[in-house]
Amino acid sequence: MLSKFKETTFSGFCKTDVIFLFSKIKNHNKINKVAIITGGASGIGEATALLFAEYGARVVVIADIQDEKGQNLVNSIGTHRSTYIHCDISDESQVKSLVETTVQLYGRLDIMFCNAAIVTLHLLQTVTDFDFDSYEKVLAHAARAMVDGGQKGSIICTSSLATSTGLEKSTDYVMSKCAVLGLMKSASMQLGGHGIRVNCVSPGAVLTPLFCKAFRGESMEMMEELVESSSYMKGSMKAKHVAEAVAFLASDNSEFVNGHNLVVDGGLNNVNAQ
Ligand SMILES: NC(=O)c1ccc[n+]([C@@H]2O[C@H](COP(=O)([O-])OP(=O)(O)OC[C@H]3O[C@@H](n4cnc5c(N)ncnc54)[C@H](O)[C@@H]3O)[C@@H](O)[C@H]2O)c1
Repeated sequence: MLSKFKETTFSGFCKTDVIFLFSKIKNHNKINKVAIITGGASGIGEATALLFAEYGARVVVIADIQDEKGQNLVNSIGTHRSTYIHCDISDESQVKSLVETTVQLYGRLDIMFCNAAIVTLHLLQTVTDFDFDSYEKVLAHAARAMVDGGQKGSIICTSSLATSTGLEKSTDYVMSKCAVLGLMKSASMQLGGHGIRVNCVSPGAVLTPLFCKAFRGESMEMMEELVESSSYMKGSMKAKHVAEAVAFLASDNSEFVNGHNLVVDGGLNNVNAQ
């Protein structure tokens, strides 16, 4: 399409104007930054890594425990613009090393997407075996690196629509996602003065490996139907839709958005809240 425009001129526009206009539209969420994505090898994290790369990220660091998947993703993005670091976020020494290695390699850290999580498979637990601390560790080490570097930054945590709706099962999962919202709110107040914004993205249902695990035993057809019926939009929500919201929060377009929970659910929460 662009090549067609290159050949044509419009009244009032010269060729270079049109090309400039197109590059402006394409780069509306330009992210010329160094970013870490925890849980970046799969699902929402993977879609975000691909989108950050598309929006011109200087480097995307994929941090995950699925080494082969993470490395394959790096290869598809390009090793000059992406790297994989094995990091189990429940182990603070690995989180510290992830952040330190990123700063050593690329000189700074601009964006931390705290996204990795699991869904527990117990049906009716009343006490949690979820590691509530892991988000806090990731956020704290990222914030320290940003403050020490004396630069602005954006930290985005993945919470969930389940914080508003609750779930019939996986109580600890819902509790942990509510804790993430509380952490984000406090951190946004504490770090705003350093030019570091902290926000959440809260997805509704997206068909990812985590979602399939939560609904194990159900057919793929049933899971697809569930995702499709979990919004008031036509079609079903994809990881890419959440990634676009994350890209907005990561980019300078959201320069004054801080302490916000951006729900991406095709309107479901809105309707439930009435
Ligand atoms: N899929 C949904 O419907 C949905 C809805 C709301 C919120 N979320 C949230 O979105 C986020 C991403 O989930 P997803 O659906 O893309 O799932 P996913 O399973 O596709 O991706 C999660 C990734 O996190 C990684 N991970 C798990 N434990 C880790 C650890 N200890 N250290 C490092 N990496 C680890 C996994 O290896 C995986 O690559 C999660 O926080 C999840 O709670 C998902």
